[in-house]
Amino acid sequence: MTLLALSDVTAAYDRTPILRDVDLAVDEGEIVGVMGKNGVGKSTLMKTVIGLLEPESGTITYRGEDVTGLSADDRARRGIGYIPQGRDVFPKLTVEQNVRMGETINADSDEYLYESVYDYFPVLEERADQSAGTLSGGEQQMLAIARALVANPDLLLLDEPSEGIQPSIVDQISEDMQAINDELGTTILFVEQKETISGYLAV
Ligand SMILES: Nc1ncnc2c1ncn2[C@@H]1O[C@H](COP(=O)(O)OP(=O)(O)OP(=O)(O)O)[C@@H](O)[C@H]1O
Ligand SMILES: [Mg+2]
Repeated sequence: MTLLALSDVTAAYDRTPILRDVDLAVDEGEIVGVMGKNGVGKSTLMKTVIGLLEPESGTITYRGEDVTGLSADDRARRGIGYIPQGRDVFPKLTVEQNVRMGETINADSDEYLYESVYDYFPVLEERADQSAGTLSGGEQQMLAIARALVANPDLLLLDEPSEGIQPSIVDQISEDMQAINDELGTTILFVEQKETISGYLAV
């Protein structure tokens, strides 16, 4: 079944088109990667999918329903978790408080996956009371994934998860994403400019 579909989507900032007539379909259970160099519009694509940027034209459907006019928080409540480029954890909050912020994603699920999240990322449990701003880049990436994952989303959007992270941690995060897809059935759409991660998140 098609979970997410973009049809003829054009998105612009101040009328300068960045995405032109984009068609993209992600089936339930798939991992799909979109590769592209610096500045080609990867983050713009992610922002358009989650609803932070309204397309000029075209439609976005999620579970067969037109969500083009819905706000980002409405889309999150429908089960889409978004992990922005650069992570955007709340630096002054503790690790645990950051994870808890994710509970509002996916209003249909009353199940919180704290156990799975801490199984995948044990370092977050060890550092539960530490302020998130003091974590390493790799740990902050894990925290951003954990925050998006805790409420059991159906679709995870990952914007350049490898950015600024040392290769061994990139490998580990790639394997974790594969396991999350296998074990929890979470569909994943990611964008990357490095080849490193695509080797692991093979479509
Ligand atoms: N808020 C904005 N206002 C105006 N232009 C923007 C805005 N955000 C991005 N752009 C422009 O849109 C284009 C695509 O940017 P985008 O951030 O989507 O690229 P990207 O593929 O994610 O790049 P990177 O790999 O560096 O993250 C760039 O030319 C950028 O300057
Ligand atoms: Mg980007």
